[in-house]
Amino acid sequence: MKVTSFSLVLAVLPYVVAAQDGSQIYEFPLKATNVLPSIPPPSVFNYSSTFLPPDVSLTAAKSTPFHVYHPDFHKIIGPNPRLTLVWSNPEYAAAHEAPVYHQPSNALFFAANAGAPLGRSGLNQSNVVWRLDIGEAAAFTGNATLNDEGDWVGGNVTLQEVPNEGNVLENVNGGANYRGQLVFMTEGRGDDLPSSITVTNPESPYNSTVILNNFFGRQFNSLNDVAIHRPTGEIFFTDVTYGFTQDFRPSPGLPNQIYRFNESSGLVSLVADGFSMPNGICFSPDDQTAYVADTGLVMKDRDPTRPATIYAFDVAPDGTFGNRRTFAFVNSVVPDGIHTDSEGNLYAGVGDGVAVYNPRGTLLGKIFTGPPGSANFIWGGDGRLFVLSETKLYLAEIAANGDDVWRN
Ligand SMILES: *[C@@H]1O[C@H](CO)[C@@H](O)[C@H](O)[C@H]1NC(C)=O
Ligand SMILES: *[C@@H]1O[C@H](CO)[C@@H](O)[C@H](O)[C@H]1NC(C)=O
Ligand SMILES: *[C@@H]1O[C@H](CO)[C@@H](O)[C@H](O)[C@H]1NC(C)=O
Ligand SMILES: *[C@@H]1O[C@H](CO)[C@@H](O)[C@H](O)[C@H]1NC(C)=O
Ligand SMILES: *[C@@H]1O[C@H](CO)[C@@H](O)[C@H](O)[C@H]1NC(C)=O
Ligand SMILES: *[C@@H]1O[C@H](CO)[C@@H](O)[C@H](O)[C@H]1NC(C)=O
Repeated sequence: MKVTSFSLVLAVLPYVVAAQDGSQIYEFPLKATNVLPSIPPPSVFNYSSTFLPPDVSLTAAKSTPFHVYHPDFHKIIGPNPRLTLVWSNPEYAAAHEAPVYHQPSNALFFAANAGAPLGRSGLNQSNVVWRLDIGEAAAFTGNATLNDEGDWVGGNVTLQEVPNEGNVLENVNGGANYRGQLVFMTEGRGDDLPSSITVTNPESPYNSTVILNNFFGRQFNSLNDVAIHRPTGEIFFTDVTYGFTQDFRPSPGLPNQIYRFNESSGLVSLVADGFSMPNGICFSPDDQTAYVADTGLVMKDRDPTRPATIYAFDVAPDGTFGNRRTFAFVNSVVPDGIHTDSEGNLYAGVGDGVAVYNPRGTLLGKIFTGPPGSANFIWGGDGRLFVLSETKLYLAEIAANGDDVWRN
């Protein structure tokens, strides 16, 4: 799905220089923002606005992108975290969705925005899945220079196009590791290219095979995101109407809900419903909790009274969901991609960066990227987090390691 652009900073004041010691850590002064001199109405300041303390410019906030809301965030980022811009193109939103790390070849795969003009995709043309070499991107860090937008610029990593022969990768919107391969959720395109689950070879020639493209003969709406439940090996995925609201898929034929697919038996089962726009999905490292992001605020219209909420479920060993509960409500736009770290903290792409919550749902901090909006991210090795930000791709180096989903 498409995350809004940002339109307002609470107060634009003179540029505040990055921390003199070169640290990229910013202690967010929560207490100082609890009572503000004036609070604009929702027509002026809302979910699409960037909230910063009144004396902090957007540029300054970006140049010190590790925003600490709770002391425990220091354990996650370590003493010397770094965020480096490793690719950018102001005219192409190549970095939006479906990031997957392939450990054996040290490669990252991800897809351009499906449905947005800058994604060069939609009804007439699919988005592209890209591959990059993580070694090449990592070589940029440590030698970055701060530009006047507040980005630490490393360079432009080489992007390699993954082939879409036979229209098997049409508007890819979610990805995961699966049985040593990559599994992608495609939203489809138009009436005749249905939404599907595709398995892609992570090594050259990067060929793909469709493994599911219907629910008992009915087209899915537009599959969005995916997670593998390790105890059963089943593919859990969300289906939602963004292809329709973004004008490249027909009217919905199914509710917005979560399914699981047993590839061995071929059976698709319902897991959970009752969402507005179910989006990102992931499991805790012990597979006993599932998280689901609901981006209901963003449909064809935007309505801030709809969910921008992450839900948690207890997961039984057989993969059934129970005890649905609210986990977190994000303070900027909506939660899209979600993943846990090895300690069970939950990270969410929330528009202005990646927010990090502990298992209690407490916001510990944020890796702040500001506009044009970070909806998705993935670990690309120990302590390396790739943050997809539409026309920009960042590499964050932190202390925490991801849940090792790349082993799936
Ligand atoms: C949200 O705020 C922006 C200005 O920052 C404004 O253009 C937009 O109309 C507002 N949205 C709503 C629903 O009021
Ligand atoms: C797709 O192609 C049709 C026919 O050429 C054209 O009318 C339409 O504007 C195009 N849509 C988009 C979103 O580019
Ligand atoms: C670091 O940047 C400088 C200046 O752009 C360049 O000359 C040098 O080769 C770079 N070093 C590395 C290791 O990339
Ligand atoms: C990367 O490429 C983009 C678009 O081609 C360009 O705008 C940008 O300046 C380049 N960045 C660097 C560091 O060369
Ligand atoms: C890729 O092609 C090889 C050789 O034909 C085949 O064995 C393999 O199953 C294919 N993989 C996928 C994911 O389509
Ligand atoms: C998936 O299907 C296989 C083959 O029918 C079966 O052995 C296995 O038990 C199924 N898994 C679950 C979790 O039902």
